[in-house]
Amino acid sequence: MDIVPGLPQGKALDILQSAPTLNFDTSIMGTNSYQETAGSEVVIITAGLFRTPGMTRDELLLANMKIVAEVTSNVVSYSPECIIIMVTNPLDAMTYLAIQTSKFPRNRVIGLSGVLDGARLSSFIAAELKVSVADISACVLGAHGRDMVVIPRLTTVKGTPLTKLLPQETIDKLVEHTILGGREIVDLLKTGSAFYAPSAAVARMAEAIVLDKKEILPCAAYLQGEYGIKDTVIGVPVRLGKSGIEQIIELELTTEEKQALNNSAEAVRKLVKAMKLDQKEV
Ligand code: LAC
Repeated sequence: MDIVPGLPQGKALDILQSAPTLNFDTSIMGTNSYQETAGSEVVIITAGLFRTPGMTRDELLLANMKIVAEVTSNVVSYSPECIIIMVTNPLDAMTYLAIQTSKFPRNRVIGLSGVLDGARLSSFIAAELKVSVADISACVLGAHGRDMVVIPRLTTVKGTPLTKLLPQETIDKLVEHTILGGREIVDLLKTGSAFYAPSAAVARMAEAIVLDKKEILPCAAYLQGEYGIKDTVIGVPVRLGKSGIEQIIELELTTEEKQALNNSAEAVRKLVKAMKLDQKEV
């Protein structure tokens, strides 16, 4: 669904025509009307402005806040039982806004962050170590953006922690590359942001929900005391199944890692405050 006439219809036809080659059977429809999305089980919200070179995700805050609030209200009125996956940036603040606007319980509003950021980190590690991406388990927590918290100690290559495989200097470089991964693409494309990797990541989340896989994936979730953090959306590992977030997994973190996660939560709080929402707990 898109507001631009013809665009979603054209995309739908294009995707549909990939089905015989990729061998999948389904129906795909593009629309400009919320009505036709009624009764959706999972709704992925990507609506909003994207970054242009030099722009941070946070600068998008006020512009995208209006769009996301309106889209969320429309989604909720036609699909009151759906699970929302937020993709619009700044991701954690927009996920918070969607929870507040939808009045959904926290298990039904989830943000795309760690699956994408972890995929970026994994792709860089695979290239550096010349190993398969399938052998890497990346641990990326915190906000989606500058305040991301990458945990090399818990990032493993078939069981071996990254900290045992690469010198600190190289790890630092890969971490920085991951944190700036989205921006690097914005700077290259100039008129758009990343598309394929975010789509693949969000599809993985949707699949975990729709197929009730109970897969543990890092996602932006509303915390109510987990990790000592309250009333903030932040990236943490969650178990995804048919009810959405079925469990928030609390990893054992070092004091330093906890501190980094707290700082990240504080950065999200600042953004949420700047939206000047009604500050009652969601
Ligand atoms: C990115 C956008 C999706 O990281 O936030 O590319």
